[in-house]
Amino acid sequence: MRAAVYNKYGPPEVVRIVEVEKPVAKDGEVLIGIHATSVNSGDSRMRSLNVPEGFGVIVRLVFGIFSPRNPVLGMELAGTIEAIGRDVTKFKVGDEVFAACMFGAHAQYRVVKQDAAIALKPENLSFEEAAALSFGGTTALFFLKEKGNVKRGDRILINGASGTVGVAAIQLAKHFGAQVSAVCSAGNSEMVTSLGADRVIDYEREDFTENGEVYDIIMDNVGNAPWSRSKDSLTQTGRLLMVVAGLPQMLQAAFVSRKNGRRAIAGTPADSAEALLFLGKLARQGKYRPHIDRVFGLEDIVEAHAYVDSGRKRGSVVMALQPG
Ligand SMILES: NC(=O)c1ccc[n+]([C@@H]2O[C@H](COP(=O)([O-])OP(=O)(O)OC[C@H]3O[C@@H](n4cnc5c(N)ncnc54)[C@H](OP(=O)(O)O)[C@@H]3O)[C@@H](O)[C@H]2O)c1
Repeated sequence: MRAAVYNKYGPPEVVRIVEVEKPVAKDGEVLIGIHATSVNSGDSRMRSLNVPEGFGVIVRLVFGIFSPRNPVLGMELAGTIEAIGRDVTKFKVGDEVFAACMFGAHAQYRVVKQDAAIALKPENLSFEEAAALSFGGTTALFFLKEKGNVKRGDRILINGASGTVGVAAIQLAKHFGAQVSAVCSAGNSEMVTSLGADRVIDYEREDFTENGEVYDIIMDNVGNAPWSRSKDSLTQTGRLLMVVAGLPQMLQAAFVSRKNGRRAIAGTPADSAEALLFLGKLARQGKYRPHIDRVFGLEDIVEAHAYVDSGRKRGSVVMALQPG
């Protein structure tokens, strides 16, 4: 099968399309023929090692000190089950599914354990849309619900509202009954409004930390709204959700949260079937839909990475594939 492989950390050009061995489903695993996969900010960070302050050494220790241990990137996919291993009871050949994984989706096939983060694809979504359900969706769900305990009527500000995580966060926050202020560039104002934002703040014209408004939750998807800048825009019990945070910010968060009614919270979600089932259900109900910015082919992988590296994509970038 064909796969996008990188053998060293670096710019988009380190990724090449090569022939690799097609995997085989072992006991408890399914083999998925991949129709679509996303190229997202996580892939960009894993390829370039452009990670938040203090994480460079940790990422190398976990993912490969001198070169990447897993040479195929790709954290989410949608496709059709082509084969199943022994003892697979949850899925059958022909099922259309979507899945989240740490790596390995930028290829024509991937095996996934039936008990891992995999679920049936919502019928009303294309493979391209389903492939982009989980990265932004699980991140937004984890921060808003699990960490932020979002409630009906909460006032939420989403900084970086037009990227993959922001687009998911707007829709999930609205689903949970919150009032959403979205911070993005002027060109993305219409898009975030169409997704449900009640108010849009153009960061080039207005600094949300200077306008005197306060929020129950501030979600920072950019990394430019740390505690020092955001704390005065939080209510007395407000939460700053630091989706992007370096080690110093994380340590500071632990410290300030002990002393304050207000809290700063960082973290990373673990992939889970439960989150995918929830997101799939919302998608079926028409309450959550990824926004697809551009669709690339596998042969355009370098261009796709370069576009994601720009940090200016709207929603998600997807690669369309043909299992073959
Ligand atoms: N903690 C975790 O587990 C976790 C999980 C997923 C992602 N992340 C991190 O979260 C971040 C966002 O991810 P993503 O996939 O959503 O990225 P993305 O799709 O690249 O989106 C980034 C967005 O930031 C906006 N932006 C750029 N400068 C801005 C500014 N000054 N103020 C407000 N918005 C600005 C851009 O919108 P405009 O073009 O409108 O400016 C762009 O749409 C990344 O750094 C990623 O590594 C963390």
